[in-house]
Amino acid sequence: MTRTVFSFFALLLASSAFAVELSDRQRAEIEERIAPVGEVCLQGDNSCGGAAATASSGPRSGEDVYNSACMACHSTGAGGAPKLGDVAAWADRIAKGNDVLYAGGVNGVPGTGMIAKGGCMNCSDEEIHAAVDYMVAGSQ
Ligand code: HEC
Repeated sequence: MTRTVFSFFALLLASSAFAVELSDRQRAEIEERIAPVGEVCLQGDNSCGGAAATASSGPRSGEDVYNSACMACHSTGAGGAPKLGDVAAWADRIAKGNDVLYAGGVNGVPGTGMIAKGGCMNCSDEEIHAAVDYMVAGSQ
């Protein structure tokens, strides 16, 4: 009888230990399965890889900004946008000086398709200036 009780408890102990081990593993697996697909990664937080690395690696280059925010109009000439590399279209604009072009890039050109920051609202003024520099450099 004592033996039976003992082995009953031994069995109980063993199986509960097994159950705990299993549930730990299961919990880990479940946590992995239900982990959010895209975790929010705050700027400056380097612990979460790609996005943060990009966000914290300083301003985007003029070329990057151009390719993501300006190219749609400035590579096609959509709405009368001066095309990158079109020396004639840029000559008069370049003659106005960088300050005017920067202001046009940041604030837009009223009454035209050139909207403020080319619609890139998360671009800093600095990044817009770099994109203007990139376009000017490639158009003279
Ligand atoms: C939706 C179309 C569109 C996008 C996107 C766009 N532009 Fe423009 N941009 C224009 C048009 C149209 C003009 C010509 C405006 C005019 O008639 O003077 C223009 C003109 C300019 C000028 C000349 C301004 C002047 O004073 O002569 C600059 C500089 C410029 N864009 C910079 C940018 C930059 C930098 C970006 C990206 C961050 C950008 N644009 C994105 C349409 C666009």
